Amino acid sequence: MSNTLMLERTHTCNDLSLIHLNNKVTLMGWVHTLKCLGGRWFLNLRDRYGLTQIVFKPEHSFEWTYILKEIKLEYCICIHGVVESRVQNGGSCNANIATGQIEVNALQMYILNKSLNLPFQINNKNTVNEDLRLEYRFLDLRNPCLQYKILLRHKLLTLTRKYFNTHKFIEIETPILSKYTPGGAHNFLVPFKDNLFFSLSESPQLYKQMLMIAGFDRYFQIAKCFRNEDARGDRQLEFSQIDIEMSFSNESQIKSIIEQFLRYITKKLLNINLVIPLQQLSYNNALRKFGTDKPDLRSKFQHIDITPILERHHNIKNLFLKNIITNNLLLKAIHIPAKFSISTKEVEKIKKDPYLSNFSNFKILHVKINNNMQWMPQSLSENIQENILSKINKLFNIRSNDSLFLIISPLHCMQSISFFISSFLDKKFHTLNSSSFKFLWITEFPLVEWNESNHKFKSLHHPFTSPINGKLLKNLQITKSRAYDIVLNGIELGGGSIRIHDSQLQSKIFKKLNLNKKQFSFFLNALSFGAPPHGGLALGLDRLCMLFSNSTSIRETIAFPKNSNGFDILTGAPTVIKNVQK
Ligand code: AMO
Repeated sequence: MSNTLMLERTHTCNDLSLIHLNNKVTLMGWVHTLKCLGGRWFLNLRDRYGLTQIVFKPEHSFEWTYILKEIKLEYCICIHGVVESRVQNGGSCNANIATGQIEVNALQMYILNKSLNLPFQINNKNTVNEDLRLEYRFLDLRNPCLQYKILLRHKLLTLTRKYFNTHKFIEIETPILSKYTPGGAHNFLVPFKDNLFFSLSESPQLYKQMLMIAGFDRYFQIAKCFRNEDARGDRQLEFSQIDIEMSFSNESQIKSIIEQFLRYITKKLLNINLVIPLQQLSYNNALRKFGTDKPDLRSKFQHIDITPILERHHNIKNLFLKNIITNNLLLKAIHIPAKFSISTKEVEKIKKDPYLSNFSNFKILHVKINNNMQWMPQSLSENIQENILSKINKLFNIRSNDSLFLIISPLHCMQSISFFISSFLDKKFHTLNSSSFKFLWITEFPLVEWNESNHKFKSLHHPFTSPINGKLLKNLQITKSRAYDIVLNGIELGGGSIRIHDSQLQSKIFKKLNLNKKQFSFFLNALSFGAPPHGGLALGLDRLCMLFSNSTSIRETIAFPKNSNGFDILTGAPTVIKNVQK
């Protein structure tokens, strides 16, 4: 043994099969497992490509047992030996790995580098604290499961470039050090000199629009974006977008380019034949049916607003229902078919969940339908007119032993409460099939929303989004925009819009949004030089990888992510800097 590398690697740990029988080979990698069976030592050698079983036969060297006792998991080693058949050696094949029919009979072994005792087993993912895994990310990344995800990301990047290149898009890099614009609530500031600051780019939005003004017609970029916002499972402080922009295009042309891209990558990466055009749902209908503008079409628990049925019955006897109409509340129902039975204890658990303490003035009722199609508790069905009950029964196609959640609340918290309940049910009954990919476009967004805390209008997307018909209605709150989001399995995958290309309209919108137009004078100026009509979209690359690799967090698809609090545990960033060295 020596730690000097004297041999050259001849094969990877995934290469060898019966066609290599009796070949002398040299492999290099890490000790994945090591065990002694019937006087023979077996070592699984691992590299990025796979595993190869190494056998150490005592008849070849009496020293193996002595030497191998020195070897620990994750030592980096080199093996020189002969390829043999596992069956002929009296063993059995392993159909789960490409090299499962052979083993390498070791003649020589070299330790290339030792390893300290491991802080956790490389394959032992679930039981290890995530911060510890992030501290030793270089070890965790040796886990084949994580390597698969990083590899999938690499393939996605390659396919993305190939697809957009073939469709005449030009890859253009835009600045990361950019101008601070107030209103962008999530800026990271970078000190430059003499009290001057850059802001890290939240997205290439304005640059890509200026590339359209510059006449590049079709742009794409795998863009790094930086946003100082709370970290979540699907959010990072720095993340990547597949960012595109197209001149002289309308919504359907942009959607079509994206749909074809999604069909291309789902075929190549998941071997799924995606049916396009994808489904679309208006923003209002999404909220009405699913309680969210990011519906998961796999959900078995749709919501229905049944307030209109009550409104048509002025002489309601039931006080509880009357209360809904008189107090301008809404009534939504979530239907639970009989096969998903839910206990009273679970209903109580839902009602007492701390999340619901964020809301007031609401009520949740759980109604069971008995064998006689009566609503239980009986007090309810006795007081609700027959025709109201039968309309609701018909609406949901209710059968005996089904149940309903009824939610009564003001409009502003209805969507959150009803979405909370249906998500609870989907989780409880495991109704979300992880191998199913349900894409959906959400359209007809409001242009702005009212921000209660600062009493200002705020764009629902961004201030460069065009209103429908290029006009602002007198009542800004009912003005719809030409924005569209794409949602996959309940997660917002991307968003885009047709932009404002008229500098006067853009200026007017800045004013309505209380944005200082001086800050954007460079952009208004650019729009004034023959800006073409244009639009685009950005897909979250990390989220796409997360969903395609069936991961629960985007951290699993980023080589060196920040932890859930935004810290880089591996290097210990960010740090306090007292005396900045110049
Ligand atoms: P938007 O802000 O909707 O649009 O972002 C587009 C997509 O980027 C992903 N994304 C994130 N991914 C991880 N961590 C984050 N913190 C994060 N924030 C956003 C999401 C999202 O759908 N310039 C516009 C696009 C356009 O109009 O063309 C933009 O950035 O998947």
